[in-house]
Amino acid sequence: MAFPGTGKIWMNGHLVEWKDATIHVASHVVHYGSGVFEGARCYATPRGSACFRLDAHMRRLQQSAKIYRMEYPLDQHEWEAAVLDTIRANAFKSCYIRPLIYRGYEALGVNPFPCPVDASIVLWDWGTYLGQDALESGVDVKISTWSRMAPNTLPAMAKSTANYANSGLIKMEAVTEGYAEGIALDVNGCISEGSGQNIFLVREGVLYTPQLASSILSGITRDSIITLARDLGYTVTETTLPRESLYIADEVFLVGTAAEVTPIRSVDRIQVGSGGRGPITASLQRAFFDVINGEVPDTHGWLTYVYREEAALRESRKPAEARG
Ligand SMILES: Cc1ncc(COP(=O)(O)O)c(C=O)c1O
Repeated sequence: MAFPGTGKIWMNGHLVEWKDATIHVASHVVHYGSGVFEGARCYATPRGSACFRLDAHMRRLQQSAKIYRMEYPLDQHEWEAAVLDTIRANAFKSCYIRPLIYRGYEALGVNPFPCPVDASIVLWDWGTYLGQDALESGVDVKISTWSRMAPNTLPAMAKSTANYANSGLIKMEAVTEGYAEGIALDVNGCISEGSGQNIFLVREGVLYTPQLASSILSGITRDSIITLARDLGYTVTETTLPRESLYIADEVFLVGTAAEVTPIRSVDRIQVGSGGRGPITASLQRAFFDVINGEVPDTHGWLTYVYREEAALRESRKPAEARG
């Protein structure tokens, strides 16, 4: 979906008009992929707009920057406040949130140190990443011929712009061949993740997901699904998973901020389970959507309300017994 091209963008502490949020073509990040970023979401809930796990996203942003020796002079609270201020300045009810820390304009050369560390926060309306139908019917995926980065090459735990050169190759191959997504293996041939999602499989009632050492991003949705699954009484195992475990799984699904919880109905044209959304995937989808849409009590403290005054007002207008 194309950008509407209007609204305010946060750049180094200032809110600027969309059309003015530009950087020089000689900025280091353009040439050397020296950026780290986040992707979070703000949802419209009955109690007002709420960001899902904003604290975890802004913590991961700072950790990604730390790995790349690119610390930015905002602390956790200031980062969260900057995001909330930007949402308020744009009067968004719901939106996708894209903070970025990057090496800016000063000199060009592989060494990033001479270049300033700059930052921005862009917001936009972004619907369901793989389509509404995908949430119900599932998607067809292939194992990518591209592997995820080997350990100790590009750090997978840092959400770096550079890593998305690899994701782009995985995604282009998949869509060119008629699949919704590609699943990358790690350097040992074990399952890693999708181009922008973590992956889970279900076998005999147990959930499995690749461990961090399989070159995955430590996904915040992945962590949320592990927590919700355990709340529901399921066993979840983070481990090394061979490719073929996808073919014989009862259920497989993708998770991520953009993809939310999307069932997979086939892998390499081999049908997964009954070829649709399985019952455990459906129950986790329901649990996840209930939390992000504010339809159940926020027992894990995952929601940050954007317009606190509005939320307080709605709360005070509700009958006492309905207050959660
Ligand atoms: C490569 C990759 N893996 C996993 C994820 C899922 O992470 P999260 O749930 O934090 O959005 C993403 C999404 O940002 C991603 O780009």
